[in-house]
Amino acid sequence: MNEIRPIQWTDGRLHLLDQTRLPAEEVTVTVTRYEEAVDAIREMRVRGAPAIGVTAAYAMAMAARDIGDGGPENFASLLEQAATRIKAARPTAVNLGWAVDRMLRAAAPGSGARDIAERLLAEAQEIQREDEAVNRRMGDFGKDLMPDGGSVLTHCNTGALATSAFGTALGVIRAGWEFGKRFEVFNTETRPWLQGARLTSWEFQKLGIPATLMADSAAGMLMRQGRIGCVITGADRIAANGDTANKIGTYSLAVLAKEHGIPFYVAAPISTIDLSLPDGDGIEIEERAPEEVTRFGGVRTAPEGVAAVNPAFDVTPHRYISAIVTECGVASAPYAESLLLAVRGGR
Ligand code: MRU
Repeated sequence: MNEIRPIQWTDGRLHLLDQTRLPAEEVTVTVTRYEEAVDAIREMRVRGAPAIGVTAAYAMAMAARDIGDGGPENFASLLEQAATRIKAARPTAVNLGWAVDRMLRAAAPGSGARDIAERLLAEAQEIQREDEAVNRRMGDFGKDLMPDGGSVLTHCNTGALATSAFGTALGVIRAGWEFGKRFEVFNTETRPWLQGARLTSWEFQKLGIPATLMADSAAGMLMRQGRIGCVITGADRIAANGDTANKIGTYSLAVLAKEHGIPFYVAAPISTIDLSLPDGDGIEIEERAPEEVTRFGGVRTAPEGVAAVNPAFDVTPHRYISAIVTECGVASAPYAESLLLAVRGGR
């Protein structure tokens, strides 16, 4: 199968499959400086928690190279400044800060700007390789949760496009399918940015997995009709107690799932777990431009001057989550214990 790889490093430049243009056009944007990588993350040309982590790692490698070319003065403090700017690109996904901190640690033993820049590029490439391996391991653990017969609902885009390759929640669905299980797949359109309609539907078509698109607001009705067997989503940040930040609308799906007695699963790498936060109350939620809500495809759909609120993520309390799939296995409640064990067993 032709793997989708949205992030490629060649000839000293970063090539990103532009997710603002899919599915109409498969266009790559080329990034040569770290500031351009920050813009690409902010404008969501690259998006999805693990994918922005990998992009941030390459941004650090480019920053080290460019700062190093200017001479050794202030190298460490200029690299710290770049790290701060990269981390600020989007606030909710912890993978961004996780990757930047790992790059700073890799830069720490000082031995000349050029050496450090080379080391950082190798580290970014390693983070990208690990991400794919981790996703495949998650798929392997998670496929046991997928039904043989019945159906699965997923939200947003958690596939190869949101990672280096293979995906998290979508990767679990794919692993179940490749294992030979057969089940119906539903995916939400994911208003307002349409990650589901534009990206997830595109990926399922590429994978040859039949999937049915639905409006976000159809979930309750389909659950009530008994047409949804389980729900699986990704995560942008998981607090120590299992409270999970993910794409806006995830919380509503989890509450609906509980009401209908349907299992609700989360799939995310260890790098998405933030043990520094005891619960989800401390997770910063990105607020995006109101125009994403008042316009559709660039065309105004709400009256001029109308107010709109646009939180990009919500937090699902851990009591709604039946299990969390990581590369270290399937964690279940109490998550304060199982996630700690998973993190300690991880890298
Ligand atoms: O705003 P986005 O598109 O970056 O949000 C993405 C999500 O919420 C995904 O569900 C999450 O990052 C997990 S992706 C592997």
